[in-house]
Amino acid sequence: MANLVVVGGQWGDEGKGKLVDLLAARADIVARYQGGPNAGHTITLDDKKYALHHIPCGILHPKKICVIGNGVVVDPGSLLREIRDLATAGIEVAGRLFLSDRAHVIFPYHRELDRMREERIRKNRLGTTCLGIGPAYESKAGRKGVRVVELRDRALLQNKVEQHFRAEDGQMPPVIERIGLDIRRVIDEYVRFGDILSKFTIDTSAYLQRALREGKALLCEGAQGALLDMDHGTYPYVTSSNPTAGGACTGLGLGPTQVDAVLGVFKAYCSRVGEGPFPTELREETGEHLRERGREYGTTTGRPRRVGWFDAVAARYAARLNGMKAVALTLLDVLDDQAEIPVCVAYRYRGARLTEFPCEPWTLEQVTPEYETLRGWRKPIAQARDLASLPAEARDYVRRLSDLIECPVAVVSVGASREETIRCEGSILPDWL
Ligand code: GDP
Ligand code: IMO
Ligand code: MG
Repeated sequence: MANLVVVGGQWGDEGKGKLVDLLAARADIVARYQGGPNAGHTITLDDKKYALHHIPCGILHPKKICVIGNGVVVDPGSLLREIRDLATAGIEVAGRLFLSDRAHVIFPYHRELDRMREERIRKNRLGTTCLGIGPAYESKAGRKGVRVVELRDRALLQNKVEQHFRAEDGQMPPVIERIGLDIRRVIDEYVRFGDILSKFTIDTSAYLQRALREGKALLCEGAQGALLDMDHGTYPYVTSSNPTAGGACTGLGLGPTQVDAVLGVFKAYCSRVGEGPFPTELREETGEHLRERGREYGTTTGRPRRVGWFDAVAARYAARLNGMKAVALTLLDVLDDQAEIPVCVAYRYRGARLTEFPCEPWTLEQVTPEYETLRGWRKPIAQARDLASLPAEARDYVRRLSDLIECPVAVVSVGASREETIRCEGSILPDWL
């Protein structure tokens, strides 16, 4: 069985959670490889909604193993709340959730630093989730981070945290002053977290390598999306990790030859939370309408998401970056009542026509989208279970996006539930669909 990576093709919230939950039926193991509690994956199951932040979406299938890989930054308090909430909903994770001993830990001072920076630079702020993601990855890259394994050793932890505070370039004292951080109390709390988490903690890379040797099917779950990737996204308006498919290798301890295919998830339009360029953004009534129809409010922060038309320039860029073998097109039903649907096929910038995604944020801020207008279908499509049952205009829309992205569409999602899904015939992901 081939191993599959599921990645977001836009700025996050493409419906990765729904797709991973759906595909998990065929997987043995589902593994998260980057990001942290900034991710918010909503899954609707039997009319109930589950919001997951650290834990892979495979957890809703009773027998599947879930792994939080070394590339993830973990907020232990928030992870334990997530585990508790699942238990309250009758979902037991013991024995089937594993956390990497090498994953880095988010501390309260990371969260506070994130918040302080966002407040201080109000004008140029990034619009982060303020959950300490950026500062925690900075600690990791700066070789000052604390890994899950280190929570077990009180003396080592104390030494590292104190050293960290001393080494900070004047940023920590104001943070401590502001939140009255009692380092000793934080250490006590984190040692306790370490103790509780120790029953989940293993060398996940070794575990996955063993599982792959035994022929187990691995589904790798990306958080965020290609355009939020630290290297390839709309820098600096990005998250601090690599959501693109390559991140699955470093974030799980796999070799590139162990990944067989990449499925990209795209909304049938676009959304973005936080600041940064968004060429096809709709600021007026239509935007408001799509936001309400698509219930475009952040799963993690509740912020209204910015929405816009499908951007095929950005999508083609994302498809190539990830080496996508197939695409899942989600939230198509949100467009049900549109008479016409514009799709951005190129950008205009200072008299030039751009068909490649520019690297500079100031160019992206100033481009004018060139739209091709497709006909809407003006009928509800949530009941469709195969492409033939879709109105001809909806089929044309799917086909045109596939041509523009230069990648076949394997799945079309027409509603939030598992059932509201069209599996395209002759799928190029036969093991999975
Ligand atoms: P993720 O971060 O990529 O997992 O996406 P989110 O869960 O943050 O946002 C996607 C939202 O759309 C969730 O509320 C899903 O329940 C919902 N959703 C997923 N697929 C569809 C679909 O095809 N139609 C509709 N109407 N909603 C969907
Ligand atoms: P899922 O997995 C959408 C955005 C934030 C901000 C930027 C940096 O649900 O798709 P961060 O807190 O990561 O430093 O913020 O990234 N962002 C997301 N937007 N979906 C997400 O996750 C996101 N995770 C981070 O809004 O613009
Ligand atoms: Mg989300």
